[in-house]
Parts: sequence; C-alpha cells; structure tokens
Amino acid sequence: MKRSIRDLVNIEGKKIFLRTDFNVPMDNVGRITDTTRIIAELPTIRFLVERGAKVIVCSHLGRPQGFDFRLSLWPIALILLKYFPGKVQFAHKVIGDKVKEQIDSVPNGSIILLENVRFYKEETENDPNFAKQLASLADIYVNDAFGVAHRKHASTYGVARLLPNAIGFLMENEINIITNAVKEPQKPFVAIFGGAKVKDKIKAITNILKSADVLLVGGAMAYSFLVAKGRTVGRSFVDIDSVKVASKILEEANKLGKKIILPDDHVAYMYGDVKEKTFITDSLNGDMVGGDIGPQTVKMFEEEISNAKQVIWNGPLGKYEDKKFQKGTFEIAKAIGNSNAYSIVGGGDSVSAVKQAHCMRMINHVSTGGGATLKLLEGGELPGIEVIQEKFV
Ligand code: 3PG
Repeated sequence: MKRSIRDLVNIEGKKIFLRTDFNVPMDNVGRITDTTRIIAELPTIRFLVERGAKVIVCSHLGRPQGFDFRLSLWPIALILLKYFPGKVQFAHKVIGDKVKEQIDSVPNGSIILLENVRFYKEETENDPNFAKQLASLADIYVNDAFGVAHRKHASTYGVARLLPNAIGFLMENEINIITNAVKEPQKPFVAIFGGAKVKDKIKAITNILKSADVLLVGGAMAYSFLVAKGRTVGRSFVDIDSVKVASKILEEANKLGKKIILPDDHVAYMYGDVKEKTFITDSLNGDMVGGDIGPQTVKMFEEEISNAKQVIWNGPLGKYEDKKFQKGTFEIAKAIGNSNAYSIVGGGDSVSAVKQAHCMRMINHVSTGGGATLKLLEGGELPGIEVIQEKFV
C-alpha cells in the first residue's frame, strides 16, 4: 500500500509539490468546458491547505511545443480562487529563483499554481536536471495526477525520486477502486469494451477476461471480432492486425469458458451516401457501414447489465459524437446508471458519453483517467504510482 497524504505529519509551513492532472478540455478561445478534474482535486488541496502547508500545484495542459498562451494554466487559477478565496497565486514560470521567492513570500496555507509544466521540453524527457529544479521548490512531493500516472515524466516520476513522497486522495481512490474491481470483483461481473482499436485494449481485455463473467463488445472494435468469427461487416473499417488480436481474445475466452457477446444488429448507412441515411440491419453486407449497435443488441446488453453485480465500461459503442449513431452508447450508459450493479466507467469518450446521457450521478465511480485507467485495468505498473514509497505498517 502506498503512503498517502494522511500519513504526513507536521506539515504546517512545509512546501508541498502537488502534481495534479488539470488537463481539462478547453474551447478554441481558451475557456474551460469541463471542470470535473479540477473539482475532483479539491479534497486533496483542501486537506493540505487546512493543515497549513504551502501547496505548490503543478500540472500539464495539452501537448504544447514550447510556450503557447492558449495552454496557459492561468484560467485554472481563477477557478481555484472560487474555492479558496484569497489563497491562490499564479506563478508564470515553473522553475527558477523568482518562483522560489514567490513561494517563500506567501503565508502558510496558500496555493501557488505553477504555469503549464509541458512548456518545458525537459518535462516529457524526464530530464534529471529539470527534476532536480522542481524538487528544489519543495520539501515533500505528492502525486495526485492519476490521469498521467502512466507517463514517466520529470514531474510525475523524476521529482518523486528526490523527495519524501505520498499519493493524494484522488490517486488513492482510483487505485483502490479499479484494482479491487479487477482482482476481487462482485459477481456476476460484466465488462463492456468499445472504441476504435482493439489493439490498444488487448492487454486490458485479456486481463479482465480472467475475472469477468461476460464481455460485451461494441464500437468499431466489434467489427474486428465479427470478422474474426467469419461474419461479413460490409465496408465497416477493420484492419488485419485488429482481426488477429480479436481472434486471440476469442480463443482465450473459449479456453477460460467466458462469454463474449458481439452485436447482433447495427445502425448502418451506405458507403458513399453523403447524408449517411441510416437503417437497421442484422448483417452488414456489400457497401453497408456500421455506425452504432442496433436495438436488438441494446436489449441483449441491457439484460446482461441488469443481471450484473459489477460493471466496468471502457469505450463508446458507436460513433456517438454523431447524433445518428449515439443511441446505443447513451442507452447503455442509462442501463448501467439504472442498474443495481456497482459501476465503473473509464476512458475520456465513455465518460463524455455518460455526461451527455445525464448519468454521471448514477455511476459509482467515474475515473479521471484515460490511458492510465486502461493501464490499471491491464494489471500493469504505472511509473507515477510505482515510484511512491510504501506505507510503513
Ligand atoms: C489525459 O488527459 O489522458 C492525461 O492528462 C494524459 O495526457 P497525455 O496523454 O497528453 O499525457
């Protein structure tokens, strides 16, 4: 078990470097469109502020190549100010004497939000000298950036090796909930996977197959599974590698005696039809292209979900960003929300679908991670977690 901020004693006046994941969606004029990740971070910040620490908050935003004012963390400082009036300062740089002076000058219990750490290319290179400069700002390092814990960067890994360290509440919660759900699931356990590429999810699906009772597959990846089973998918996009991966997963499920349920019908359109006029079909032939799971499949999936005690969902079940193809994904989001099963949803697209279907409050755990959640579902090690010291018991 990793050391948590609860285990830190006498932190009044201590400078705490808190790595958060404030990589929030923004519109093209730099306005934040979703504050979920900021709100999720408040309990950790509040805990440290209330104990009189100086909280140095660090995050990345986007993937800038050098300074880019559209990716400044300044708008996030304004949001933090609403929750901690009079206690937030913004540092225009991440390292250097000016930042140190600013940190020294603020009273205990203050928050100093550093500028976007990815404005420095040394961050993603995990540059040891950059990590040293980050470490020189603080006495203690806390990692609460679950969404970026799969990255071995200077602020998620390098700096943690140079300071006494711990994880924050958000990180602790994500690790406990996701690993417990995979290792000791409540049964029957239904896993739902969708999205485009089965290749990116092979490890997660294979690991989950060990503990899940049923696997429901939708989205573009379902076409690879259908081809692997010898079914036609018309002109729906499938690549050879994904079909090979799908075949392996089907074989594995067979060996383990696990049920994989694929779509039985589809919302489709004809290739080349600019208006993409949709129709329902139970087999995709000729020039047909699949865009969403059909009503029969929705029913079949809903039935499995209603019998489940635990559901994990990763990846949309159709091209949900297009109104014509969002029904399947939204219906399944509602079915999960309305079921009595303990529910976990992870991955940016599925979380966004849950939001659009107005089901956020009905899901037990909505993960803040995308790639990191997948890595945890794989049962893999995440550098940002692995580097944190174990709790002394
Ligand atoms: C995310 O949004 O998934 C995390 O913040 C990680 O971002 P990255 O993929 O740019 O490292």
